[in-house]
Formats: sequence, C-alpha cells, structure tokens
Amino acid sequence: MAETLSHVVSYRRMRVGELPAIDQELMERASTAAANAYAPYSHFLVGAALRLNTGPIITGNNQENASFPAGICAERTALHAAMSQDPTAVVSSVAVVVPQVKGGMPVSPCGICRQALLEQEVRQGSPMRVLLGTSEGTVIELASAADLLPLHFDRSYLGR
Ligand code: THU
Repeated sequence: MAETLSHVVSYRRMRVGELPAIDQELMERASTAAANAYAPYSHFLVGAALRLNTGPIITGNNQENASFPAGICAERTALHAAMSQDPTAVVSSVAVVVPQVKGGMPVSPCGICRQALLEQEVRQGSPMRVLLGTSEGTVIELASAADLLPLHFDRSYLGR
C-alpha cells in the first residue's frame, strides 16, 4: 500500500542585527571574503566563513576557471581549507553571503556544496548551523546542514 511521507524543515528568517555578535562577525567575514572572489566569468561573488568550535574563523570564496567545471564554490573552498589544516576540526557554523543579491531571500548553497557540508557534519558527528545572508541584512538560519539535503546520500550506504 503506497503511503505519503513528508520531510518538514523549520528554519528562521531574521535581520542580521538580531543575530548574536559572534554570528554577525561570521557574516561580515563571509561578505569580506566575497569581495576577494575570482569570478571573471559569472561575476557572481560568493563568500563563505566557517566558525570552528575552538573559535577561529576560516573563509573562502568562489574560484572560477576558463574550463568552467574546474571552478569551485565558496563553501567548498572554505571547508576544504579548514579541514586540510586540521582534520579533527569541528565546524559549528557556516555563513554564506552573496553581497550583490538584492531582495529578501539569500542565495542557498548549490547541490554539490550541500553534499560537501553534509559530509563534514557526518564526519564531525555534530550539527553545523547554516547562515545565509544578503547585503541588505536578511538572514536565513538552519540548524543543520542536513536540513539542506533531505533524503541524502551518506557513508552509511557504503557500510562505513
Ligand atoms: N557559487 C558558489 O560559490 N556557491 C554556491 O553555493 C552557488 C554558486 C558560485 C559558483 C560560480 O563561481 C558562481 O557562483 C556562479 O554559479
């Protein structure tokens, strides 16, 4: 007998000024990182900032390539930089900002970045908060990277 299942994700939308100062700093660092993106093809500048549970912030931005698939998004630039420096790092929060986007809805990570953020969440065994922002100050907050990727694929399918 067929059944209908549902996947409900709650998330918060707020003004950046309503965030704790520590998160506002993370959003600012992501915004600053966006300004240094290498995006001569799309002109779409994305910045990401990760807060480690030990306090430091690691940033990244998108790095494009004339061979388009060789480019990499801001989220994975930051994530791989952080994890290559300390393979035991635990990411408490990730902020992603696209300063040029106007309006009420921030840009949301692409599918590959969602998968990469999820892998990190599984790897560290604790949730990673996700903060998405625009230059106009709207913020979307999700409690976990898994909230971005329902019915996800992870290492459990590999028996690992
Ligand atoms: N991009 C990111 O950096 N993060 C995302 O989550 C979405 C897309 C970049 C990739 C490319 O350099 C540009 O934005 C346009 O797709």
